Amino acid sequence: MAKTRTKSGEPKATFPRVTFLDGRGDLPMLEIATPWSSAEIYLHGAQVTHFKKHDEPPLLFLSQCSCFAADQPIRGGIPIIFPWFGKSADKPGQHGFARVRDWELKEMAMAPDGAVSVRLRMPECADSPECPACALEYRVTVDSALTVELIVMSRSGQEFVFENCLHTYFTVGDIGAVSIVGLKAVDYLDQLAGFARKTETRGAIRISSEVDRIYVDTPQPVEIRDESLRRAVRVEKEGSASTVVWNPWITKSKTIQDFGDEEYQQMVCVESGNVTANKIKLAPGQTSRLKVKLSSAALG
Ligand code: BG6
Repeated sequence: MAKTRTKSGEPKATFPRVTFLDGRGDLPMLEIATPWSSAEIYLHGAQVTHFKKHDEPPLLFLSQCSCFAADQPIRGGIPIIFPWFGKSADKPGQHGFARVRDWELKEMAMAPDGAVSVRLRMPECADSPECPACALEYRVTVDSALTVELIVMSRSGQEFVFENCLHTYFTVGDIGAVSIVGLKAVDYLDQLAGFARKTETRGAIRISSEVDRIYVDTPQPVEIRDESLRRAVRVEKEGSASTVVWNPWITKSKTIQDFGDEEYQQMVCVESGNVTANKIKLAPGQTSRLKVKLSSAALG
């Protein structure tokens, strides 16, 4: 069942607190070690695949069945969804192309306290039917929290309408012992009911079947309370009006090739972005920023 591979080689180079390696599938990656935490970032999709505070289980879920291949997305961590979310009739594939592009590492910095920041850049998009000319940057800061920021710079002479999403997979101890707090009274589009618009009535959302919802107009933080791991994870965001909550549950899990049949019990996606009604309309030459901070503490 497990389709993962171990890292193949010796470190290629090191920078204080950062090691460069060929990761799984021989894809280049960075291992980061700070006084509080460890993290891994693949250049493929600029995907953060791991973040763990020293005294806690991993914060991010990564499927044991994930592909690690140049033309495939990685299943877990934080896939970057851009420039469209989901399937679009006039565009190829699901969730855009940023998650399968090879990004370049542009800069690394270490703060005096040991926090590490890296800046990655996606090879520039020329005008195409799917996407007008633009440049993308991704900034990742690793300390006692994980902070990621997606920056889209228009290089087009025309308005650029796009969707973005940081499709974050969280590790949970047991999905049955999880509640998601912060979305009460928010409207959502139920993707399992043909995008029907509904209103969340629960202060604490429990998951006991497949869930695939786009909560709209929701800039506020969300908390994932995990009674099994006795952990509360806080998702704070800037420049994000949508929150997507996804768990494939039993039947759908079996249809996803790069996802274990039982793994739905150990994960939940709480994704921060701007999708459907919240899509971004960027004026020529303007910049959009989507920033998410993930932190955790013992459940009180
Ligand atoms: C979620 C969508 O964001 O991503 C779901 O709301 C989708 O509809 C899920 O199934 C996973 O998508 P993918 O392309 O990574 O399999």
